[in-house]
Amino acid sequence: MKKIGVFTSGGDSPGMNAAIRAVVRSAIYHNVEVVGIRRAYDGMISCDFVKLTSQDVSGIIQRGGTILKSARSVAFRTPEGRKKAFENLVNHRIDGLIAIGGDGTFTGAKVFEAEYGIPSIGIPGTIDNDLYGTDNTIGYDTAINTVVEAVDKIRDTASSHDRLFFVEVMGRDAGFIALRSGIGLGAEAILVPETPTYIDALIAKLEKGRDQLKSSAIIIVAEGDDAGNASEVAKKVKERFDYYDTKVTVLGHIQRGGSPTAADRVLASRLGLAAVEALIGGKTNQMVGVVNNQIEHTDYSKAIKHHSTLNENLLRLAEILSI
Ligand code: F6P
Repeated sequence: MKKIGVFTSGGDSPGMNAAIRAVVRSAIYHNVEVVGIRRAYDGMISCDFVKLTSQDVSGIIQRGGTILKSARSVAFRTPEGRKKAFENLVNHRIDGLIAIGGDGTFTGAKVFEAEYGIPSIGIPGTIDNDLYGTDNTIGYDTAINTVVEAVDKIRDTASSHDRLFFVEVMGRDAGFIALRSGIGLGAEAILVPETPTYIDALIAKLEKGRDQLKSSAIIIVAEGDDAGNASEVAKKVKERFDYYDTKVTVLGHIQRGGSPTAADRVLASRLGLAAVEALIGGKTNQMVGVVNNQIEHTDYSKAIKHHSTLNENLLRLAEILSI
């Protein structure tokens, strides 16, 4: 393998740049050339390629977002789009790919490998942490810290004004951000898509808090919760429980931005090297991850969503401590 392509795809996440840097420098160490593919699969189709040197990735380890930009490509879902992408890779003599992203990214890489035999290795880059085969995805730790910091501020108003705040965090299908940040910020309740939400039980909990003279509360709602988003849940609760003045805050994309934490930078650096060594060592169709502090390789089909589960012990912990 003489030349590899690297790209970032799907929602950006803090630490993607640290991963790009690690891929570039690890490849150069192994005498392999690196081409950056801008805007992910869209750039593969439009031939938006740029040679990356060690200097090109200087000073980016601390930067959020992705210098290669990101996209969710519609064209790559078509056979014509993938054919064009393949032709462009062949014309540029790109022998293999490193895909930094989440389940959509790896699904694309898997289909592409099956159709055209382009080997690829995935690096988990998403704030959602919804991939099997790694304890943490790159960006998750930063996102959790962003949520905790933001809600600590909201807590000041909640307690000063005796208010009930419903705070919506990201996670269409997964409650990892909600659960971990909720524990970290001491939420009174955490609503996640993986477990059914019973409005009756939530109201009973809030009533108990009121009886114990709790004057304010924070409810963390994952955007994909089965009872609805934060506004919908707040409405349902308020209809029957209006003891507190109720407010809704949607944290939105602030969760995806900002400088990556040290943990995310180190994770990205480790996974960048592991991905390059896996690809040049002949592996393909796999995601690299860190499990129990060891590098692991997991087939894309297993890594992509529906295989990762919320930690039962954390759910129990949240329940016990949130009274
Ligand atoms: O997958 C990452 C993520 O941030 C999800 O948590 C969220 O539901 C989604 O992306 C939002 O995507 P977009 O930026 O396209 O609105």
